[in-house]
Amino acid sequence: MRRVRAPGRVNLIGEHIDYNGLPVLPFALNREIVLEYRPRADRRVILHNTDSGFPPVEFTLSGDLAAAAAGSWGNYPRAAAQILWRETGPLMGLEGEVSSTLPIAAGLSSSSALVVATALALLDASGREVPREQLMSLLARGERYVGLQGGGMDQAISLAGRQGHALRIDFRPELRLTPVPVPPDWRIIVASSLVEAAKSAGAKESYNTRVGQTRTALEQVATRGLGIAPPTDYADLLNRVPAEEALARAESVLDEVLYRRFRHVVTEAGRVDAAVEAMHASDLPGFGRLLHQSHVSLRNDYEVSCAELDQLVAIAESAGAVGARLTGAGFGGCTLAACSTTAVDGVMEALAREFYAPRGVSDLGDVLFTATPSDGAGIA
Ligand code: GLA
Repeated sequence: MRRVRAPGRVNLIGEHIDYNGLPVLPFALNREIVLEYRPRADRRVILHNTDSGFPPVEFTLSGDLAAAAAGSWGNYPRAAAQILWRETGPLMGLEGEVSSTLPIAAGLSSSSALVVATALALLDASGREVPREQLMSLLARGERYVGLQGGGMDQAISLAGRQGHALRIDFRPELRLTPVPVPPDWRIIVASSLVEAAKSAGAKESYNTRVGQTRTALEQVATRGLGIAPPTDYADLLNRVPAEEALARAESVLDEVLYRRFRHVVTEAGRVDAAVEAMHASDLPGFGRLLHQSHVSLRNDYEVSCAELDQLVAIAESAGAVGARLTGAGFGGCTLAACSTTAVDGVMEALAREFYAPRGVSDLGDVLFTATPSDGAGIA
């Protein structure tokens, strides 16, 4: 038996901007998908799941795989297999078992971890190597097989995570990963809203709508507002025009909703730069303010929050976190809260008492925990 592991992630800041070519700042969690497998001499993939809620998955490898029903977990291994076959050549099959210490559909990127784990196992079973950075972009494109027009953050951090560090991931002009140490006395609390953030199901349409809206806004600002040729993405725009000018023009040409979407993207990119500086300076209060601003922007301008996420943020901040926000795509999933070592216990207790106890949730292991920046995926 061989074994591959791929972690989930928490994104510190830079939300809903990776698909617009702008940088993000996630770290890999010490919670992961594990795939134990045996290579096969044919082209069959057979996967069992230790969670009986997920029925076995079987398919024959090819470059043109018919998808299983929408929302089926088997579409993630298929996504990995199809893109690898198309872009690196025919693959050999495998038989294995998937298990997870990552909460599923919780906005911690279990889906991309599964894509990454399957990809590494298939490459290993086929005796093939693909450079890690190439694999990151390839799998980001590959995962769109499930119908979500996602960016490249989740696959990249699962492959490249580094113990004790967050990674600033730039996507333009090409993929660039810059480790940023997480100050050892900072604590990052992850808290689940208990609302499923199933990106392959309900949240997909809302997510894709945001992708479309930001692209429309970009094009209108460029052509009608600034009179320039349409930029390839927001990174290109912000290289050519200062953020303030872009925002001022946007306000005069966009309708109210598109303007708010545009404002979130542009201001969030500025917060990523500022957050990296705050981490280098060990400025925890400054970092917390940025988290708070990010949440307000995601809630009001991008409209991807929900009452439960807002409540978690409010509880954490009033119990002594320097700042909190939703992390991941939103529409449910998790929040993160940053705090000092002295505040962490009080914040955890407040979340347990005010959010989980009234909902009858007493087993908190998977819903409330402090996150440790960890290493990325590998064959173990
Ligand atoms: C999902 C996507 C990512 C990213 C986040 C929001 O996790 O897979 O690419 O867009 O949402 O920041």
